Amino acid sequence: MIIATTIDEVRKQVREWKNEGLTVGLCPTMGFLHEGHASLMKASHEQCDRTVASVFVNPIQFGPNEDLDTYPRDFEHDCKIMEEAGVDMVFHPEVSEMYEEDLCTYVDIDVLSETLCGASRAGHFRGVCTVVSKLFNIVTPDKAFFGKKDAQQLAIIKRMVRDLSFGIEIVGCPIVREADGLAKSSRNTYLSEDERKAALILSKTIRMGQTLVGGGERDSLRLREAMMVKLASEPLASPEYVEVVDGSTMQPVETFKEGDLVAMAVRIGDTRLIDNFFVGDPAIEI
Ligand code: PAJ
Repeated sequence: MIIATTIDEVRKQVREWKNEGLTVGLCPTMGFLHEGHASLMKASHEQCDRTVASVFVNPIQFGPNEDLDTYPRDFEHDCKIMEEAGVDMVFHPEVSEMYEEDLCTYVDIDVLSETLCGASRAGHFRGVCTVVSKLFNIVTPDKAFFGKKDAQQLAIIKRMVRDLSFGIEIVGCPIVREADGLAKSSRNTYLSEDERKAALILSKTIRMGQTLVGGGERDSLRLREAMMVKLASEPLASPEYVEVVDGSTMQPVETFKEGDLVAMAVRIGDTRLIDNFFVGDPAIEI
């Protein structure tokens, strides 16, 4: 596995591959990798001739009161996971390689970034779209792989690719969970033992939501209320939102249909966790 730290190294290697007629897949990450990230890399390894993964904690997508300084990092362990998942090249740049100090060009997205996580994380999706655009320009992949765990991010990247004519196929991959149902996340390491137990309320609530939808529920208000009641049964959980939105515009809907998104953000102690399901996707097994 090649470890590249500069944009030039990545460009040179990708050019060689393309000259050989090989296709390239990209999996952008912020590191501290787990099986959720690995699933994207495995999908890329299956669908593309060469796979590039990036490991970069992107400062411009963190708000002033967010966890940029404490975000977990373990590049050696990340390399083991990437190697096992079939990654051919990892791009692991310093912040100074990605951003000049006088950076003043950003990629911003309206409408889709105004709901769900975007409502409470001002500037977050501008930071995501800017770094992902840069990675697309640096790697020029045929396909890029993103997790449904971050469903709003996935919808936003799909729209950005369409609106800016990137010519890259965006592949959405299923949420990978712990055996007990908790969606895998680098931020799960922040949870104490009690909080880890309490965090199960997210996947239990998702499961309950899927059962209601499976039983024919299509009214957003009723579904949200039932899910809020379930979340309220866990004293350590403070829900930030439970929303039902159109699967591509991310705008709230009164009645929902297949492909729409049921999403929530919940604080467990100081840790903000998210979980979701797309209507029509198979129910989670827990
Ligand atoms: P990060 O949180 O490291 O996630 C990288 C990718 O892994 C995202 O596409 C995310 O949806 C996916 N992922 C994380 N947990 C997952 C799980 N349990 N199951 C399936 N996929 C999962 O998302 C980011 O980084 C950043 O915003 C980034 C896109 C890299 C831009 O900086």
